[in-house]
Amino acid sequence: MEKKRILTGDRPTGKLHLGHYVGSLINRVKLQEEYRCFFIIADLHTLTTRPSKEDIEAISTNIREMTLDYLACGIDPGKSVIYLQSAIHEVYEMNLFFEMLITVPRLQRLPSLKEMAQSENLKEMPFGLLGYPVLQAADILMPRAHLVPVGKDNEAHVELTREIAKRFNTLYGEVFPIPKVMVGEVPTLVGTDGKAKMSKSLGNAILLSDDEKTVQKKVFNMYTDPKRIRADIPGTVEGNPVFIYHDVFNPDKEEVEELKQRYRNGKVGDVEVKEKLAIALNAFLDPFREKRYIYAQQKGYVDEVIYDGTMIMREEAKKTLAEMKKAMGISGIWNRISRKAEDKKKRQKGVMV
Ligand code: TRP
Repeated sequence: MEKKRILTGDRPTGKLHLGHYVGSLINRVKLQEEYRCFFIIADLHTLTTRPSKEDIEAISTNIREMTLDYLACGIDPGKSVIYLQSAIHEVYEMNLFFEMLITVPRLQRLPSLKEMAQSENLKEMPFGLLGYPVLQAADILMPRAHLVPVGKDNEAHVELTREIAKRFNTLYGEVFPIPKVMVGEVPTLVGTDGKAKMSKSLGNAILLSDDEKTVQKKVFNMYTDPKRIRADIPGTVEGNPVFIYHDVFNPDKEEVEELKQRYRNGKVGDVEVKEKLAIALNAFLDPFREKRYIYAQQKGYVDEVIYDGTMIMREEAKKTLAEMKKAMGISGIWNRISRKAEDKKKRQKGVMV
């Protein structure tokens, strides 16, 4: 039996961080054997908030950095397809058809779009940003994905994709599977500043490619229980980002429990808790760093991975779009007109010779 399919990916805004890893990357790596996986580098989506020439020029570097992060995490181009969205022409077309199947108020209700507009200081919503999840639906449905592993912030977009797929199938016939969402065990990781979400633009992220010293520095500047101005004041563990990270990234559960006990009783300084966290995080990141270095040394390798993946995706895209247009009856219009016109031209030619 043919394997079920996964599509997911990221905007190439730069290097990936721990939040990406626990929210989505870890699931991707695990599911590579069981599923046929497609990983999109969604460069068109970056244009929804950053369309300037300078922004576009920065994309190539970001793409390479992000792909290195993928490879370092264990995404294997021998098993999975990593491809560039803007090089798949069919997605622009599919996006247009899907725009007809969803209403403006439905899109306006999505909090994610408002947040994106706000964080980019856009006073009004660009038309393309409103269409962000519609384009995402085209990405997901292009390889006819069954499963979409994403961070919590993208859950609503997958829900919208399901609606579009159902609507299409009802109107034109069963072309698309209805994709399911999968969110990581740690759906949203807090930032080092204690803010709800780790995000590069908020400057509260630990990157997968950060070196040891940088990780140490970031951990030492982390937000903890603000009531604890001295080590002998009992502290709160719950919701404390330092302990949240310990829980997620420190495999030594005994050490973590012991630190929590002492913290609650005012028997440990923040410095020790953070020192141990930095050690755990650096041990966690070491294998990424090694792999990343090895791939970065191989000149041209990353470009080749993206090229090969994009070529495979182009074939998939051609098939899906042709089937979609056939189901809609759109391809039939031109087929009939062009056939008649070509026949006529042939006949005229025949008369002339
Ligand atoms: N919206 C994703 C992000 O936040 C990027 C993305 C674009 C995506 N198309 C997708 C994710 C399709 C999953 C599936 O960066």
